Amino acid sequence: MSLLIKNGRIITAADDYVADIFIEGESITAIGKNLPITATREIDASGKLIFPGGIDPHVHLAMPFMGTFSSDTHETGTRAALFGGTTTVIDFVLQTQGHSLKEALDDWNSRARGTAVGDYSFHMAVTDFNENTKAEIKTMIEEEGITSFKTFMAYKGALMIDDRQMVALMQEVKKHGGMVTVHATNGDMIDYLVAQNKASGNLSPRYHYISQPEVTEAEASGRFADISNYTGCPGYIVHLTCEGALNAVRNATRRNQHVFVETCIQYLLLDRSYYERGFESAKWVMSPPLREPKDQDTLWAGINQGLVNVVATDHCPFMWEQKLMGKDDFSKIPNGHPAIENRMELLYSEGVHEKKITLNKFVEVACTNPAKIFGMFPRKGTIGIGSDADLVIFDPNEEHVLSVSSHHMNVDYSAYEGWPVTGKVKMVLLRGQVAIENGECLLQKGAGQFIRRNKVKGII
Ligand code: URP
Ligand code: ZN
Ligand code: ZN
Ligand code: ZN
Repeated sequence: MSLLIKNGRIITAADDYVADIFIEGESITAIGKNLPITATREIDASGKLIFPGGIDPHVHLAMPFMGTFSSDTHETGTRAALFGGTTTVIDFVLQTQGHSLKEALDDWNSRARGTAVGDYSFHMAVTDFNENTKAEIKTMIEEEGITSFKTFMAYKGALMIDDRQMVALMQEVKKHGGMVTVHATNGDMIDYLVAQNKASGNLSPRYHYISQPEVTEAEASGRFADISNYTGCPGYIVHLTCEGALNAVRNATRRNQHVFVETCIQYLLLDRSYYERGFESAKWVMSPPLREPKDQDTLWAGINQGLVNVVATDHCPFMWEQKLMGKDDFSKIPNGHPAIENRMELLYSEGVHEKKITLNKFVEVACTNPAKIFGMFPRKGTIGIGSDADLVIFDPNEEHVLSVSSHHMNVDYSAYEGWPVTGKVKMVLLRGQVAIENGECLLQKGAGQFIRRNKVKGII
């Protein structure tokens, strides 16, 4: 099977040119102007943009969390991702405290293998670092191809580790060529503020926001940067939301340190006003919470300054009925919102179309940097000879509106209901196979492959 995509405008993190792309099997084997090649199928991409398949390095599929499971499975979540132009996701395996990393991995494999429609990889979330866990780090990196380890400085009593464990984990991960990623907020302080609000009878969703002030994130981001600097272990802050936290990273650059930073599409586009909608605000209860307009400005600027390296989603959907678990107590609302399908189109529309970022920057933060940082480049994250033929054919002018009535995520509301978008994913290829065409997914359950990742470089 071979495919020839003709006359598309090819956009990578560095390039912008019109050419043909020839695909044999799963990978790109030639790129050039007017390629003198015949293929099994020819696709005319005149007037369209061609991006590398999007990589969302922060998703939670079928994750046990806060007494329930996130509502997208590996099947529904990766299929929805493909509809939105994301061909690879990195999901989080969660160690259960008192149990091994291997047990958790077996558990996640049993859900993802043979069900994912798009490609996927795993981060390993270490929630209990001890002598046994320590012995598993090398195996995860060298035998399982899992080279990034997620930590939580929050969710006290459930997922949180203390600084003692953080230092020890970072020392071990550094030794074997991995990276530590972090949910950086001060868990003790949040735990106290949540209890204080509940004791005062402040139980509505807006107190979720009030219990996680900017300082909780700024403090923890600085502390994480310090531990990363001390241990020399590459560090990556997930879902960074605010000016204070980004300034902690900026400060770290003054001692020549580079902490990788991810923000998520919602923190660029939505603000705290969503917490003034009564219980409907539960749709946007996530941690950290949405912030102020000044934080959105900081994040857009941070992307252009090269301080914010990645735009992900932290896709963690819950059905409305699940959100209702916190009807009388904000601390029981399962945290998270759906966006896996919307990230690429929203970032294009609000970023490129609105002239906040360039086309090349769009590809850099949505495709290339996630691949580079997490050890998948150049197989993933770019359009080049030898790369996987993961491609998005995109109409930059088509206007449409986001809605629960047209999305493919397994969740019964849209966090972006009625949002007008300019630019639409028209066709998606996954490793040379047509995944999305004419609004249909042509791949079956199980078409997605687990992507083993290389050791991380700590530089991009
Ligand atoms: O609210 C969120 N972010 N839910 C998912 C878990 C996490 O903290 O990333
Ligand atoms: Zn066990
Ligand atoms: Zn988190
Ligand atoms: Zn998350």
